[in-house]
Amino acid sequence: MNKTILITGGAGFIGSHVVRLFVNKYPDYRIINLDKLTYAGNLANLTDIENKPNYEFEKLDIVDANAINALFEKYQFDGVIHLAAESHVDRSIANPMEFIMTNIVGTVNLLNAARNSWKDNMEGKRFYHISTDEVYGSLGEEGFFTEETAYDPRSPYSASKASSDHLVRAYHHTYKLPIVVSNCSNNYGQFQFPEKLLPLSIYNIKNNKPIPIYGKGENIRDWLYVVDHARAIDMIYHQGVNGETYNIGGNNEWTNIDLIHKLCEIMDRKLNHEPGTSAKLITYVKDRAGHDLRYAIDSSKLQSELGWTPSLQFEEGMEITVDWYLSNEEWLNNVTSGTYQQYYEKQYTKR
Ligand code: NAD
Ligand code: DAU
Repeated sequence: MNKTILITGGAGFIGSHVVRLFVNKYPDYRIINLDKLTYAGNLANLTDIENKPNYEFEKLDIVDANAINALFEKYQFDGVIHLAAESHVDRSIANPMEFIMTNIVGTVNLLNAARNSWKDNMEGKRFYHISTDEVYGSLGEEGFFTEETAYDPRSPYSASKASSDHLVRAYHHTYKLPIVVSNCSNNYGQFQFPEKLLPLSIYNIKNNKPIPIYGKGENIRDWLYVVDHARAIDMIYHQGVNGETYNIGGNNEWTNIDLIHKLCEIMDRKLNHEPGTSAKLITYVKDRAGHDLRYAIDSSKLQSELGWTPSLQFEEGMEITVDWYLSNEEWLNNVTSGTYQQYYEKQYTKR
C-alpha cells in the first residue's frame, strides 16, 4: 500500500460515495473509514466494498481527542479527508450543541492529531476539509458564491461549519499544515438519509404521506449528483493546491416547489400512477426558522484549474436516484424504523 488515508464520516451519505470511489479506484491506497455511526451513519451503505483488502472501518467519535490521537499513532496517515459532521440544518435549530461538538471540536481534534503526527515532515501530507456553500449565507435573486465571497453563516449548522473552515485555514497559516477546503452545494443521490428534502419526499410519496414544503416553497438550492461531488473530492485531494479553497456546484438551480413537482412527475411514472397523483400530497407547512432564500455556486475555479465538470445531467441523476430508492426498500425501511419516527413526529407534527 503506498498511502494510508483516513476518511471521516465514511458511513454517511457523501462519505460512503467517497470511500467507494477511493477503495475501488486506488487499490494501492489503504483506506480507513472512521465513523461514530450516529443515526446518519450506516454500514449498509458500504456492503459492496466492505470486504476489499484495502478497506478498514474504525468506529470512533471525533470529539474523543485521546481516541483520535491513538488512531493517528496506529496508522501514521498520509492524508485525511474529513467529512464527519452533523449535517442537517433542522436538527441544528433544535439542538445546536451537538453541532458545536462534532463540527468544531471534532475538527480541531483531527487538526491537532494531524499536526502532531506530521510535525517532523509535512511533505506529501494533506488535510482535506469538506464544507458547504451554506457558510456564505443567503443570496438574493442574482449572483453566485465564489471562493472570495465573505462568510455569513446564518444557522447553527452553517455557523459550526464556518467555524471549522476558519480553524482549518488558521492551522495552515499558523502551523503550515497542508490543507485544502471545498465548499459544495446541495447533493442528491443514493444513500441519502430521508430527513433531507428529496429522499424524505420519495419516502412519503411511496407511503402516500404528505410532502412537507416549508413556507411557500420559493427557496432555491443548487443540486449536484453526489457521485460528481465525490469525483471533485478525488481531484481536489490529488491536484488541489495547498491552502486553497474550491467551490463545487451543479449550476442547477431549482425552487423547492418546482423540484418537488419534477419529482412527483417521475414518481407517478415509476409507480404507474395517474399524472398528478403525487402532487396532491404537497402540503405547505410552517417555514424553517431563518430559512436561507437562495444558494448558487460559481465552480469556475474548479473547472478551469482542475478540469472538473459534472458527469450527469440532472434529469439522468434524478432517474437513477428514484430508481435506487424504489428498488432498495429494505434500506429505506431500516433507516426509517425506530428513532426516525420520533424525529419525524417532533419535526413535522408538533411544529
Ligand atoms: P451525513 O449526515 O449523511 O453523514 C455524516 C456522517 O458523519 C455519518 O456517517 C455520521 O455517523 C458521521 N458522524 C457524525 N458525527 C460524528 C462524530 N462525532 N464522530 C465521527 N463520525 C461522526 O452527512 P453528508 O450529507 O454525507 O455530509 C458529509 C459532509 O459533507 C459534511 O461535512 C457536510 O457538512 C458536507 N456537505 C454536505 C452536503 C449535502 O448536500 N449533504 C453539501 C455540502 C457539504
Ligand atoms: O447547501 C449544502 C447543504 O445542503 C449541506 O451543507 C447540508 O448538509 C444539507 O443538508 C443541505 O442543506 P439544506 O438545508 O439545503 O437541505 P434540506 O434537504 O434540509 O432542504 C432543502 C430545501 O428544502 C431547503 O430550502 C429546506 C426545504 N425543505 C426541507 C425539508 C427537509 C422543505 O421544504 N421541507 C422539508 O421537509
